[in-house]
Amino acid sequence: MMDLDMTTIDIEAARAILRANDRGGYTVPTDRLYPFQWNWDSAFVAMGWATFDKERAWRELERLVEGQWDDGMVPHIVFHAPSDDYFPGPDVWRTRHAIPTSGITQPPVFATALRRVFEIARGPDAQARAARLYRCALASHDWWEKARDPEATGLVAILHPWESGMDNSPAWDEAMARLTIAPTTPIRRRDTSHIGAEMRPRDEDYRRFIALVDLYAGLGWEPAAMWRASPFKLVDVATNAILQKAEEDLLALAAQFGTEAERRRIEARMARRAAAFARLWSEERRIYQARDLCTGTTVDASTSAGLLPLFAGIPSAGQAAALAAELEDWLAKVPYPVPSTSPLDPRFEPKRYWRGPIWAVVNFMIAEGFERYGHAALASRIHLATQTLMRDGGIAEYFDPTSGDGLGGSQFSWTAAIRLMIDQAVVAGPAREKM
Ligand code: GLC
Repeated sequence: MMDLDMTTIDIEAARAILRANDRGGYTVPTDRLYPFQWNWDSAFVAMGWATFDKERAWRELERLVEGQWDDGMVPHIVFHAPSDDYFPGPDVWRTRHAIPTSGITQPPVFATALRRVFEIARGPDAQARAARLYRCALASHDWWEKARDPEATGLVAILHPWESGMDNSPAWDEAMARLTIAPTTPIRRRDTSHIGAEMRPRDEDYRRFIALVDLYAGLGWEPAAMWRASPFKLVDVATNAILQKAEEDLLALAAQFGTEAERRRIEARMARRAAAFARLWSEERRIYQARDLCTGTTVDASTSAGLLPLFAGIPSAGQAAALAAELEDWLAKVPYPVPSTSPLDPRFEPKRYWRGPIWAVVNFMIAEGFERYGHAALASRIHLATQTLMRDGGIAEYFDPTSGDGLGGSQFSWTAAIRLMIDQAVVAGPAREKM
């Protein structure tokens, strides 16, 4: 068991990271490697700030929506201030927003963060701030429905691997390998001058990432045109699960800030999506898997994304038990939960970004998911492992599930935020003795 002093030191370290990465109301993921405001990072970071600085928590969310587009999209990057440390910058994205932004989005954790910040960070102006941000969250969910599910299937699709936040997941391999388009923008990677190349996506991945950016920039980032032209249309499990959880949180906020019609709209979307999730369940693999809309096929890759429907209460009790059993099999191969790709999959690479390493934010959502289904021991085992990884491996970007080593960028904001949030989560029960 962790003693109190150690816990206090860890918490101070996590707070210090958020303060150091604060650039004036928004928090960069880490210095140099990611010098702007990232969408889902900031949502987690806001929840982290809420544990000790209410004002900063609100500001984080408010600054993110400074980048929101008129059509409701919250971009994946908001370029508040110029920096030469990152590629691709605003000149590559060529979007037309007043504050430069990227042209794609990221998993919509925003409404979940808003609800949590509103619950924790009560203050004299909390009502008014939450009411305004509720409108932004609603507009963003409406955008997802219209722009990313135009055929009203109930499930949204991503049009770029970066939209999943899990950039080089094996779930995108086949679709990416099929791409025949070439980038027009010269590739000037900056990431590998900050971090060892073996821990980052490959050059070939980058060529394809940028080829898609060039294609969409040529279409003026117009959602309907992008949908028609895109050679990459994937129903990502994580994005849909996170969106479903965010709808639940939005619905709770709508009870105070929304209209009856809005509540009905959100409920209808949730019911449709919950039913549509059945199409992503693989009985054989005991996990949810992505679907490729360009080929109409299931993507046979078992990744940590496949466990995230737990977070949104989507699986049946039987499916939740099957997911727990599947994860136990992974953990017979690697000591630390939760690897981003199944260690039983030949594509598993323990150090390469989303192809094996552990990410604290994903662990947090999976643990909350198991908790929701009454798998309390597994939930606290994951939370406790995340804590241990940070204490021994540093508050790193991601972690090697075979050795526990901290990898990628150091002093990482969303990892620090999770450290602060775990402290408030349930970390109790017999699982403590297991670690
Ligand atoms: C990487 C991650 C993405 C994250 C960003 C900033 O691109 O794949 O999920 O949002 O870094 O931390």
